[in-house]
Amino acid sequence: GNHSNSSIYEKKIVNVAHRGASGYAPEHTIPAYQMGEQMKGDYIEIDLQMTKDGRLVAMHDEKVDRTTNGTGLVKDLTLAEIKKLDAGTWFNEKYPQLAKEGYEGLKVPTLEEVFKKFGKKANYYIETKSPDVYPGMEEELLQVLEEYKMVDSKGRTKNVLIQSFSKESLMKVHDLNPKLPLVQLFSYKTQATISDEELESIKEYAVGVGPNFSKVDGQYVKMVRNHDLQFHPYTVNERADMKKALEWGATGLFTNYPDVFNEVLSEY
Ligand code: G3P
Ligand code: CA
Repeated sequence: GNHSNSSIYEKKIVNVAHRGASGYAPEHTIPAYQMGEQMKGDYIEIDLQMTKDGRLVAMHDEKVDRTTNGTGLVKDLTLAEIKKLDAGTWFNEKYPQLAKEGYEGLKVPTLEEVFKKFGKKANYYIETKSPDVYPGMEEELLQVLEEYKMVDSKGRTKNVLIQSFSKESLMKVHDLNPKLPLVQLFSYKTQATISDEELESIKEYAVGVGPNFSKVDGQYVKMVRNHDLQFHPYTVNERADMKKALEWGATGLFTNYPDVFNEVLSEY
């Protein structure tokens, strides 16, 4: 197509704008996602939390405290209450050198608003966060995907990937729609290893794995790629690490700096 971003089906290595271009703009706001697109990120990464009244919103933490001027858990707040919060001023205060007036008063977007804004040509890499805290989250996600025609009548999609640390959540999504491509995330505390048996069992429901970059090595990537699974480490912000990931055979990565990763890719 003639749009700038490409999915895992069209491109060997994908550039995932982690929480949007969150190195430059307040994470999980429309401007951060827009910047990700401008910098030619292939996917907009979205973390999901669910409000008290069952609406999916783009936010990393279970609490609104870090990324808004409010306090408390998303699950205890209605969407109307969350919509009163300022999701941009914290960024201006924390990063004065990156501050912009336009970030003041930004709102927490719902998943629906993100779909409305960026449409079907954008690619979305969507994470079910804390699924144990939000019963019904997977059902709601699939409903929104259907409503915004991100899946066709047969349940297929070209522009959405679903990711989670929770295998249980991914299995729920898989049971609801076996056509949705899934990525199993891992957060390793020590140097990571993965076995053929583990990879075979992941392959039964997922198209890839996403571990923390800092705990993997070339051998790990080799194992993953031998099973023909995608390898998308997070969160890779340094040029040298991006190069290393590519040398190991990464098929994409999550970065707060999609512009930097594109520079590295152009030299690669
Ligand atoms: O989803 C990949 C990566 O974002 C996982 O870590 O904490 O940034 O959601 P986190
Ligand atoms: Ca994430």
